[in-house]
Amino acid sequence: MRTLAIETSCDETSIALLEGKRPLANIISSQISHNKFGGVVPETASREHVRNIMNVTKFAFEKSGLKPDDVDVVAATYTPGLIGALLVGMNFGKSLAATLEKPFVPVNHIHAHVYSVFLEEREPEFPFLSLIVSGGHTLLVLVNDYFNHRIIGSTIDDAAGEAFDKASKMLGLGYPGGPAIDRIAEMGDENFHKFPIPEFKNKEEYNFSFSGLKTALLYYLKNTGYETMSSQDRGEITPHIAASFRTAAVKQLLNNTVRASIDFGINNIAVCGGVSANTLLKKEFFKLRKSGYNVFVPSTEYSTDNAAMIGITAYFSFLKNNRNAFADSLMVKAEPRLNKVLF
Ligand code: KG4
Ligand code: ZN
Repeated sequence: MRTLAIETSCDETSIALLEGKRPLANIISSQISHNKFGGVVPETASREHVRNIMNVTKFAFEKSGLKPDDVDVVAATYTPGLIGALLVGMNFGKSLAATLEKPFVPVNHIHAHVYSVFLEEREPEFPFLSLIVSGGHTLLVLVNDYFNHRIIGSTIDDAAGEAFDKASKMLGLGYPGGPAIDRIAEMGDENFHKFPIPEFKNKEEYNFSFSGLKTALLYYLKNTGYETMSSQDRGEITPHIAASFRTAAVKQLLNNTVRASIDFGINNIAVCGGVSANTLLKKEFFKLRKSGYNVFVPSTEYSTDNAAMIGITAYFSFLKNNRNAFADSLMVKAEPRLNKVLF
């Protein structure tokens, strides 16, 4: 089965071509025009998808060596995301499917992050715990089988990626903030300042909260007169502040996941979404292997938004439940089963 997959939910225009589960091409065009605004401008994102999508698709065909007629299934992200941006990919995908007379598979972006770990050679066995950490979501999910998910924890305020982006803005490190903080934190001392790590009273809760951490950073910067410091002084302490912030954020993610793994008796842990590209996060989760855990984190290409993860999720969705449903109809609506487990 050859899948052409489309991802346009936010500020990445991405097209992938897969043969079964294996990506033959995964082209990602990141929109840098948002950087000067310190965040994604939805209207601009849609317009850039319109501008880029044909070229990115051509590039993907060139790289894969496939021709449009080789495609068996077309898939695109249908939710969650910026509506204007989603519409570009959905309509492009549906039109392509109609032209090629092939089925169209709508894919939930969060499901795609969960199944991104299957793009790697070592795949998790079911059941596994999936920690989804992206710019808009922070969820801890028990994955019992393909598309059999149970959310056991989620953020009660900011998402992990959002916290990194906001912290980066406060430290003047620009957007996107996660990679910027990660890079500079590598040169800092994580023990420089102790930022709070929230604990929930109810032991069976595996929720997350990042707004306290964000506020603690804001007050720390105010109290130390960070904004009025000389650029040399600022340059000296910024790596330490970034490292301390990153440690608090990662520890919270790690502590909750490990606690859930013990309570549920599951030693397969997957971490996915943009924040799973974080250097410290990977280091800390990989350390768990020494204690008998199987830990799965996608490579950076598959952590941040990409169409290969849409393609592999469409592949599982198509083969597992929906082959007939999809094959019968060119324009399939969101499959009811998928709707039920929408995050
Ligand atoms: O999954 P993703 O690409 O898009 C969404 O679905 O939201 O995640 C983007 C988020 C951004 O907030 C970005 O700052 C964060 O992932 N991110 C990182 C790193 N790379 C990307 N956060 C921490 N460390 C990183 N290395
Ligand atoms: Zn994402």
